[in-house]
Amino acid sequence: MTLDVVIMAAGKGTRMKSNRPKVLHTLAGRALLHHVLDTAATLGARKIVTIVGHGAEQVEASIGQPGVVCIRQEPQLGTGHAVQQALPQLGDTGTTLILNGDVPLIEAATARALVDACGGERLALLTIELHDPTGYGRIVRGGQGPDAAVLGIVEHKDATPEQRGIREVYTGMMAAPTAHLRHWLGRLRNDNAQGEYYLTDIVAMAVADGVPVVASQAKDELEVLGVNSPLQLADLERRYQRREAERLMEAGVRLADPARFDQRGTLQCGSDVEIDIGCIFEGTVQIGDGARIGAHCVLRDAVIAAGAVVHPFTHIDGAQVGAGALIGPFARLRPGAVLGAEVHIGNFVEVKNSTLADGAKANHLAYLGDATVGERVNYGAGSITANYDGANKHRTVIEADVHVGSNCVLVAPVTIGAGATIGGGSTITRDVAPGQLAVGRGKQAVISGWSRPKKAPKA
Ligand code: UD1
Ligand code: CA
Repeated sequence: MTLDVVIMAAGKGTRMKSNRPKVLHTLAGRALLHHVLDTAATLGARKIVTIVGHGAEQVEASIGQPGVVCIRQEPQLGTGHAVQQALPQLGDTGTTLILNGDVPLIEAATARALVDACGGERLALLTIELHDPTGYGRIVRGGQGPDAAVLGIVEHKDATPEQRGIREVYTGMMAAPTAHLRHWLGRLRNDNAQGEYYLTDIVAMAVADGVPVVASQAKDELEVLGVNSPLQLADLERRYQRREAERLMEAGVRLADPARFDQRGTLQCGSDVEIDIGCIFEGTVQIGDGARIGAHCVLRDAVIAAGAVVHPFTHIDGAQVGAGALIGPFARLRPGAVLGAEVHIGNFVEVKNSTLADGAKANHLAYLGDATVGERVNYGAGSITANYDGANKHRTVIEADVHVGSNCVLVAPVTIGAGATIGGGSTITRDVAPGQLAVGRGKQAVISGWSRPKKAPKA
């Protein structure tokens, strides 16, 4: 059966009080609309139509997904009017699933169940019982209980005091037989409290036409919560993070505090992983068995091997950390940093586009950029690779067992042979052969009997 998906995303989001279109605000590091598009992409739809309006250019530009069509709705005359704009894109038969660009956490299984409930011949509504239904469209039934026939949806602003007492509300998501939908949308009127074309009016039309209406309740409120204000966005973010934290903890990850945990992407953990407070995980992060992440670290697109320890306030982006390595505190691993087993990277050390073989150490205040570092190299405090000549980047090769003293400048391209030693304070511009000692610094001058200048006595 043909499935088309319509995602409504034209609304202004006035309460966000932001220049950014509402659906481009992020939850867990991803735009609200993109959460919905990701889910829609798994449904096997023939077409995904996004209705855009406010900030249309920005919203359209944000969509890189092939197969997503954007249709502009100008002006925005209500949700029914929004879906009308999509009609030319929809099939003649089959099912149309309607989702909201500002309800980000709808799950594929729930969407699929809604599509199945429709089956191209029934109108299927996703509903939920809310403790406080204020503002939502109420599900009006012909009697008590979940089996009583649905008669229609009445918007909060149009509801009688009695109807406002109904706690079952429409979530904004439905699946409709496309042929009927086309017909019903053509009959919408805007003679209501808001002067809008309400999509929800099609429910009473279905009842009048004898088309069965099924309302299925969402299991988890998280899936149907929308975002209208910064407070709601932050609230949904915390609830999402709490759920992800619980999933990790159920799998055995020890989070010091699930309330101080942020995952903005995917995080995969082995057994006996410990994560202290205030860490942020972005992109795709993998953490191996027994690894520990200290407080306030930011890890993005990183692989941390088993037994590694990342001390507090460390920033890791696009890097791999080997088994048993010790990183930080206050270390920075940038894209292309690949560290072997038992590597030590200490405080205020930056590593970029460099490989460090097993057992290499840079414990304090150093920079390794575009370097290939051999096993057991010891790289002194304050030493740097001068990898950039103002135009091009060059590599530094430091072979196994080299000792680089403190405050050295290795001017790339340069190779330090295995087992060589670089005296502290050296600027090295030429290759050093294996085993050599290289010293490149001003000679120390000593002046005996020298006396310091004295202050002239005050007149
Ligand atoms: C709508 C439902 C209400 C339901 C609620 C759930 C209608 C008439 N009412 O109300 O029953 O309980 O959602 O959150 O459908 N949009 C457009 N173009 C428009 C108007 C809206 O694209 O002209 C989009 C908005 O960007 C948003 C969605 O449609 O993504 C819902 O619009 P919104 O104004 O939030 O609907 P509600 O009035 O809250
Ligand atoms: Ca509205």
